[in-house]
Parts: sequence; structure tokens; C-alpha cells
Amino acid sequence: MYRTKIAGIGYYVPEKVVTNNDLTRVMDTSDEWIIERTGIHERRYAKKHEESTATMGAEAAKIAIERAGITAQDVDFIIFATLSPDYFFPGCGVLVQRLLGIPNVGALDVRNQCSGFIYGLSVADQFVKTGMYKNVLLIGGEFHSAGLDFSTRGRNVTVIFGDGAGAVVLQPTEDQDTGILSTHLHADGNYAEVLSYINPGCHGGVHLGTERFGYPEQEFGGAFLTQKMWDDQDYYPNMDGQAVFKVAVQKFPEVILEALKTNGFTPADIDLLVPHQANLRISQFVQRLLKLRDDQIHNNIQKYGNTTAASIPIALCEAWEMGKVKPGDLVCLAAFGSGFTWGSALIRW
Ligand code: ACO
Repeated sequence: MYRTKIAGIGYYVPEKVVTNNDLTRVMDTSDEWIIERTGIHERRYAKKHEESTATMGAEAAKIAIERAGITAQDVDFIIFATLSPDYFFPGCGVLVQRLLGIPNVGALDVRNQCSGFIYGLSVADQFVKTGMYKNVLLIGGEFHSAGLDFSTRGRNVTVIFGDGAGAVVLQPTEDQDTGILSTHLHADGNYAEVLSYINPGCHGGVHLGTERFGYPEQEFGGAFLTQKMWDDQDYYPNMDGQAVFKVAVQKFPEVILEALKTNGFTPADIDLLVPHQANLRISQFVQRLLKLRDDQIHNNIQKYGNTTAASIPIALCEAWEMGKVKPGDLVCLAAFGSGFTWGSALIRW
């Protein structure tokens, strides 16, 4: 059995910086409210019609591939995590495959929102440590700004999210002291609608026990997009922020401690925790609870907002570029998000 190591890492964020004050031009919000509640100062938005989740993912991937010392032709499997794909189907995996010019290799799409990168990492780990693949490309990317409600109605969600992508190349190593030590995945579908983007979908309100979205009257089909959804503008994400907060601050520490305990460590042993950048308040709560020093955690939500599946690889890459991740370090990654889903990974760098 091999261990799986991160051989290369890269990220891409679009050029356009959107400050909190920029948002006050289109909705009733304020710089003070956003900073106090979320810690976010600014985020990046992709160029409409020019950039997409797949193109940003490909840019991040090119950097990760180069840093791994391989070429795109060496990649033997692609995993793409996103909640904001270019198309309803097919997924972004095949689009990145086309952009990188590597036909035939398998391409898997992961739909686990903020936990997507951790879920993808765990899947990649199973393929790599068994020797099935030698260079797995794992990407997390999001183009949130294309699907947010920029009216005041959507302000509680819209101010939080930003665009970007991060990628890693995963390779086998025979060195049992480095690489991914363990991954831990969890979910609780009882909270499915608490943080969700329901339309377009085929449910017609069934899961919610309501007729809120209204199946059309005809005998067959037509529920993905109905006139009623259109008329009600019922095609934006929704979030019960306080419910998310309450469960997130419980599950983040739980799943971090699970990873540490599995490997015989305590929070004091962590060299760097890179939590999914959901909200600075959540990260700070977790830091306090685990009694971590400031140098044991890396946050960058202040600059990029919440980039969902992209947030961990972007933050990890940034920390690595800053010299905060060194060979031999114990690095913990942890995520919580829509589903609810949550997970962690412990890595000896
Ligand atoms: N600007 C100004 N006012 C706002 C905004 C905004 N952007 N959004 C909401 N408000 C108003 C509300 O309308 C409400 O006004 P009212 O009192 O007049 O009715 C008031 O602020 C308080 O609203 P709440 O929703 O109760 O605000 P809360 O203090 O809970 O803060 C927040 C909202 C920041 C979302 C908080 O609940 C939170 O941090 N939740 C965690 C969820 C989260 O971080 N999600 C990230 C994405 S999910 C993930 O990655 C896991």
C-alpha cells in the first residue's frame, strides 16, 4: 500500500476585485455589517462570457501540474468538485479534460458543495494508495457570482460568496511517513434544504412536502424550470444562516478531533489547520475551541469570500506559497457545508 502525497498545488482567482462598498451600489448592505458578521472585505468575480468554473479550474490545474513536475499528459484521472458547474450536465470534469487536451482519462464530478474538496481528496486517496492511478488531478472551482441574487432580497447569501479555483496533483509515495494519513467523511440529509439551491431540479417541491414550486399541469415532464419558478424568481440559493452557524461550529471541531484521534494526535500537534473558508466567525470559534495559536490556522476569506469547493485548495496553496507549510508539517483540512456534509483530512506534508 502506498501513501498519497500532494505533489503539486495551484490556485486561480479572477482579476476583478469586488469590495463590500461595491455591493452597496446594488443592494441595501454595508461594509460594517459584512465585516462584522463574516470577516469578508472583498471577493473576486469571474469575467462573464470569458471565464467559467471549468476555465478557472484549468488555470489552477496548470499550475499544480507544473509544480508536480509532470505534464497534463501524465494525469490519469480527474476529479472536479463544484456546486456551480458550467452546465447542468455534463459536469466540469470533462470540460477541464478538454481544456487540458488529455482525452480518454476518466473524469469524475463531485457534488458535495463546501465539503467537495475533502470528499474529492478522499476518493483520490483511495485510487492512489491502492496503486490504481499515479497522477490524480483534483480541482475545486466555483463561479458563484453567476448565480446569486444581487437584489436586497438575496443579501444574506450574496455578500458571502466569491469566485475562484484551486487544484492539487496527487501521487503515490512509498514513504509511509508522508502524505494523507486519513480522511473522514460525514453527512446529514435532514438539513438538505437549510442551505440549498433547489431550482432547476426535478423535485417539484416533493422533498419539501409543499407545492411551492408548482409542477405544470400537463401529464408529462416540465418540472426542471417552470413558469412559476421564473415568475417567483425562485432560482437562487437560500440559507438559514443561524442554523448553518449552529451546526458548523459543532461539526468542524468534531471532525478535526476525529482525524487527530485516529492518528494519535491532539490539537497542539497541528502545524497548520486550513478550514473551509465559510465565515471568519466560524473559523475563529473553532480556533478558540481547539485552543490553536494564530500561526496554527490559515484564513483568507477576508480577500476572497467563501469560494465553497475552491476555498480549501486556494487557502492551502496560499499558505504553502507563504512558507507556512513545510516538509514534515502536520496539516489538517476540514470542511462543513450544504447537505449538511462535513469532513476532514490529516496530512503529513
Ligand atoms: N447586509 C445588511 N443587513 C443584512 C444582510 C446584509 N448583507 N443580510 C442580512 N441582513 C439583515 C437581516 O435582514 C436582518 O435584518 P432584520 O433584523 O431587520 O430582520 C439582520 O441583518 C439579521 O439577519 P440574520 O440573518 O439574523 O443575521 P445573522 O446575524 O444571523 O448573520 C450570517 C447572518 C452572517 C449569514 C450568519 O447567520 C452566519 O454567519 N451564519 C453562518 C452561515 C455561513 O457562514 N454561511 C456561509 C456559507 S455556508 C458554508 O460555507 C458552510
